[in-house]
Amino acid sequence: MEIRPIIVVHGGAWNIPPEEHPPHIEGCRRAALRGWEVLVSGGSALDAVEAAVRLMEDDPTFDAGKGSCLNAVGEVELDAIVMDGETLRMGAVAAVRRVANPVSLARLLMEKGPHTFLVGSGAEEYARYHGFPLIDPRELIVDRERERWEAWRNGQGMYATNLFGPQGTVGAVALDLRGNLAAATSTGGRPGKWPGRVGDSPLVGCGAYADNMTAAASATGDGEALMRIVATKSACDLVGQGVHPQEAARRVLALLEARTGGYGGLILLDREGRVGIAHTTPHMAWAMVRDGVVQAGI
Ligand code: GLY
Repeated sequence: MEIRPIIVVHGGAWNIPPEEHPPHIEGCRRAALRGWEVLVSGGSALDAVEAAVRLMEDDPTFDAGKGSCLNAVGEVELDAIVMDGETLRMGAVAAVRRVANPVSLARLLMEKGPHTFLVGSGAEEYARYHGFPLIDPRELIVDRERERWEAWRNGQGMYATNLFGPQGTVGAVALDLRGNLAAATSTGGRPGKWPGRVGDSPLVGCGAYADNMTAAASATGDGEALMRIVATKSACDLVGQGVHPQEAARRVLALLEARTGGYGGLILLDREGRVGIAHTTPHMAWAMVRDGVVQAGI
């Protein structure tokens, strides 16, 4: 059977202000097309999701890499995960401050081992040891987030408390020409978070999961809630039980709300190229490419 490669990306699920819709949609389109180029040139699903997420980490529109929200002390701390559906290998990093592309550090960890999950200064030391570029953490901070953070510190904003506040976590799922699935997720976490706080994104089965036997998934939204229902593994398992990815995404988000009161978004993809895209927040930026045709929405 001929395999039709496909990539789906998301750029966060929250109440995205109207003036921010165009850059969110365009950023997702560009990321999906970047991943698509990788897939059609014979690259792996793993290469495609890493390339797509890297592009969104570099795009200051999103809460990942440069442009991420600031924590309670005005710093950026980043979390990311990448997972290979063929082998179930994965790599994840959390609370890193001196890395522009944490998804690629997660990939390096996956490839070189011997561990699967490193945090904070240990993850940065691992990066330095392997010649991975380290940056000045101030390079990750943009004026928009500094201003939001300062307003919050002055008691003027909802930075840390808004239910659907800025949560532009990014993620990607892909199916390659060899029929393998992969997933990746990257985030700056929630605004005003306690230093050292880690959300769902880098936790396997929560922020992302990929298994050729079921599906690939990436989540966004309320990390404290998403991790409690192991959101992406739950969604992939439903697909493994014969549920269509769209219905699986819907059911997991309904469970999230019913059991935790949390909100979020999911993208899902199975080996037949069936897609699920769902969110319970006012918006979720997304894009996908199949047969060279780009679709995007918010
Ligand atoms: N979902 C991203 C986070 O809560 O950190």
